Amino acid sequence: METWLERRADVRERRDLVRAAAPDRPVESGAVLDLASNDYLGLSRDPRVTVAAVDAVQRYGSGARASRVVNGTLAVHAALEEQLCQLTGAESALAFSSGYLANLGVLGALGGPGTLLILDAHVHASLLDAARLSRSPVVMVPHGDLGDVATALKNRTQPRAVVVVESLYSVLGDGANLTELAALCAHYDAWLLVDEAHGIGVAGAGRGAVHAAGLAGAGQVVLTVTLSKALGAQGGAVLGSRALREHLVNTARPFIFDTALAPAAAAAAAMAAQIIAAEPALAARLQENAATLARLCGIERSPGAVQSIPMASAEQAVSAAAALRAAGVLVGCFRPPSVPDGVSRLRITARADLTQQDMDYAAGLLRTVARAHRADPSEHNGSGRNRTVI
Ligand SMILES: Cc1ncc(COP(=O)(O)O)c(C=O)c1O
Repeated sequence: METWLERRADVRERRDLVRAAAPDRPVESGAVLDLASNDYLGLSRDPRVTVAAVDAVQRYGSGARASRVVNGTLAVHAALEEQLCQLTGAESALAFSSGYLANLGVLGALGGPGTLLILDAHVHASLLDAARLSRSPVVMVPHGDLGDVATALKNRTQPRAVVVVESLYSVLGDGANLTELAALCAHYDAWLLVDEAHGIGVAGAGRGAVHAAGLAGAGQVVLTVTLSKALGAQGGAVLGSRALREHLVNTARPFIFDTALAPAAAAAAAMAAQIIAAEPALAARLQENAATLARLCGIERSPGAVQSIPMASAEQAVSAAAALRAAGVLVGCFRPPSVPDGVSRLRITARADLTQQDMDYAAGLLRTVARAHRADPSEHNGSGRNRTVI
């Protein structure tokens, strides 16, 4: 067994696909400018959020101590779910321990042999895993292809269907056409599941892309969110009708067989949701900074916080990220299997709390480093619409 592990490690090494889960090291040259994390609004260190977390620990303890359906449901969970409804306009919400588990929970509960799942080729790994675990028949459609979604819905033999997309995609940063997708789902009597991990706090003045599309509370639309990005905490939630919530409480295995979300995370996320709803200027600042960063870097702007720069190879991506790091700028380095289209990339995330000076400095470096390592678009075969690695 040991030799097999060594051989696998060898292959990763040779392909420049080694990942590390090491604590962040300080960069020798001074302060680190973080363009890699998902704390889009800077709320993870906002004193209102951290104080809410500390208060919750003092009040309820460090853990929830039991599943929500035993005696782990606390007032902070109800408060969080209420704040998420107020923010997004959803009828009801159910908190999970992570966004990953929220996705497993909702697709497990809606899926099964009688439910066709239609997945956009670029959806997050948690949705792919959720689809597999649900034991549903699955159709994977090319990224953003509404025609293929319509065909799959029209030709289905199953009584139920769920179309699964992200509002803003996590690696490439582009958005789904929610208005048309919701219309298709209404027409063919299907659910539209929108993962708003990168939309909540970012799109629609912070209320999310579903709200911005005028679909808040729409019967056929179900949302999942993570509490770990713009909300600066930890955890996830499913938002939809009261009937859906009731169904999840009774059937979603990652809800029933999991200890409830930790009180500190629930309280922090509830406070963050309240702040986002009350201060739309925060999301507006993030949007301005994303536009400025993309312009200064000379790249096409994506609609959310995530901006993506294709690299010539995994090796080039690693060395570009290392060069940036040495100069004090942290960026995401995404390589297979974390990229849906097989193209290694630098992923830079804008934040509301970046200064003009931060952005000028980062963009100057990014332009130089990216030029040296960037992919030649003519070398990419295909449009990247099909997933190459699952
Ligand atoms: C689109 C998407 N969905 C779900 C998740 C999982 O969320 P969490 O980190 O809360 O498990 C992520 C996180 O990376 C994501 O990007």
